[in-house]
Amino acid sequence: MSNSDRVFVDRAEKLARSFFEGDATGHDWYHTHRVRNTAVSLAEKEDADLFVCEMAALLHDVADDKFYDEPERGMQFVQSWLEKENVPKAAQIIKAIETVSFKGGTNRAPDTIEGRVVQDADRLDAIGATGIARCFMYAGAHQDPMHVPELPPRTNMTEKDYRTGKSTAINHFYEKLLTLKERMQTVTGKRMAQERHAFLETFLDTFADEWNGKK
Ligand code: ADP
Ligand code: NI
Repeated sequence: MSNSDRVFVDRAEKLARSFFEGDATGHDWYHTHRVRNTAVSLAEKEDADLFVCEMAALLHDVADDKFYDEPERGMQFVQSWLEKENVPKAAQIIKAIETVSFKGGTNRAPDTIEGRVVQDADRLDAIGATGIARCFMYAGAHQDPMHVPELPPRTNMTEKDYRTGKSTAINHFYEKLLTLKERMQTVTGKRMAQERHAFLETFLDTFADEWNGKK
């Protein structure tokens, strides 16, 4: 990467850092930091544009609707920031960010390799040891219990279920985390997801054994 590209990456990092300072719901700056590192690793192996992947990873959550009162505001904010800073390849960066979000798994698949890389990187952060930690952080922050064995595993949670306390950290594994392995877009992402998925299964088995006093 050229020195001038490095300057843009540093500026994007500064923006993301200041944006997420102090978040305790799973979107702190270090989520962006990990997604960036994973995106760079994936980009190297997948022959994707390193600059576009690193910039899109750094900005992907700055652009996310859930941090704004109105839809599209986040994307508009990132777009005008890219223009103001005269960032090269802005259109490719925007394109790669647009398809990142999970949105219940129904959103369209990315049609560029950079989009696939950044989406995989974001999803990989929801599984493995890190994904488990984030899941329990999220449940704690929302006052959800970690596990209620009387509730059968549910894959189709509704807004009402969340509001009426039927969401648990363990249920989130069945609702989302265990499904992510099948949604990976790149060969390298798939391989990394397999290892992280196996760790989720080991965790669930051990958790159940301990719950039942078997270990
Ligand atoms: P993203 O689309 O960026 O993954 P989310 O806000 O859906 O963002 O999730 C942030 C983190 O919190 C993820 O690691 C996710 O798996 C976890 N999470 C989201 N919803 C729940 C939930 N109901 N219970 C436990 N963890 C959750
Ligand atoms: Ni994210």
